[in-house]
Amino acid sequence: MPLIVSISSLKGGVGKTSVTLGLTSAALHAGQKVLVIDLDPHGDASTGLNAPTTGADIGSMLADPERFSLRDNIVLSGWNAIAQGQKNSDGVVHVVRGSASSTPLEQAPLPQYLSRLLNLLQGNVDDYDVVFIDCPPTLGVLTSMAWAASDRVISVAEPSLFSVAGTERTLRAITRFEENSQYSVSSASVILNKVRPHSNEHSYRVEEMKVLFGDLVADQFLEDFEEFQRVQGSAYPMHYWPSDDAQRCAAVFSDILQGLT
Ligand SMILES: Nc1ncnc2c1ncn2[C@@H]1O[C@H](COP(=O)(O)OP(=O)(O)O)[C@@H](O)[C@H]1O
Ligand SMILES: [Mg+2]
Repeated sequence: MPLIVSISSLKGGVGKTSVTLGLTSAALHAGQKVLVIDLDPHGDASTGLNAPTTGADIGSMLADPERFSLRDNIVLSGWNAIAQGQKNSDGVVHVVRGSASSTPLEQAPLPQYLSRLLNLLQGNVDDYDVVFIDCPPTLGVLTSMAWAASDRVISVAEPSLFSVAGTERTLRAITRFEENSQYSVSSASVILNKVRPHSNEHSYRVEEMKVLFGDLVADQFLEDFEEFQRVQGSAYPMHYWPSDDAQRCAAVFSDILQGLT
């Protein structure tokens, strides 16, 4: 089985999708075989990966798992064409597309649904090195299904007061999830994103997070930089974008990926 990692945060806009895409880019660049499952009804990861809108999306598969096979509905990311002919070009990115059709699942009865994603993955993802699951910013049925299927959960945070509170909520939710279900999340970590190293407020919040969450906070953090959104807007993997800022950010994602495996 591959390493299965959920990227979560109970706060929106902190960079879950961005971290999912950055780690995917790192794995592609390292020549790995990656599957991205876009569990957020906004479908941003699917857009960022330039995934074709063919086949069934994850919401339809989870709602009616008897009808769909996950393997038949995996699509190729547009990133593969960019990486072809470049370094370690045996890397490949596949996507299980997300869409608004997963929204109604948030109202589904949890005990019946909790293991559905895990069941969909079983026997279908053995060929991959790593599976990343981009989660919605809520602790609902979708995130619970993701955690039940995952070996690790990454919580993404910004250096802001509200995000410190959001991270506390996320880590408490993981503990509660483990207490109330048969599943254990073997490892949780906190990745800080959008850090401005010269901001006093950010330095204060980074230190505060280290005090509050100790070793869970990854040593490497991601800086806030303007070009980030241009790379994403072009549906491009960070590791293949030729600028110093992008390459510095890509190196951080590669370090974080190495720490996961
Ligand atoms: N390190 C960064 N520097 C600059 N912009 C960033 C960075 N990380 C994320 N963003 C931007 O912040 C916005 C929210 O990020 P996103 O990954 O969509 O968050 P989430 O998935 O948690 O809602 C996006 O427009 C994204 O491009
Ligand atoms: Mg997102």
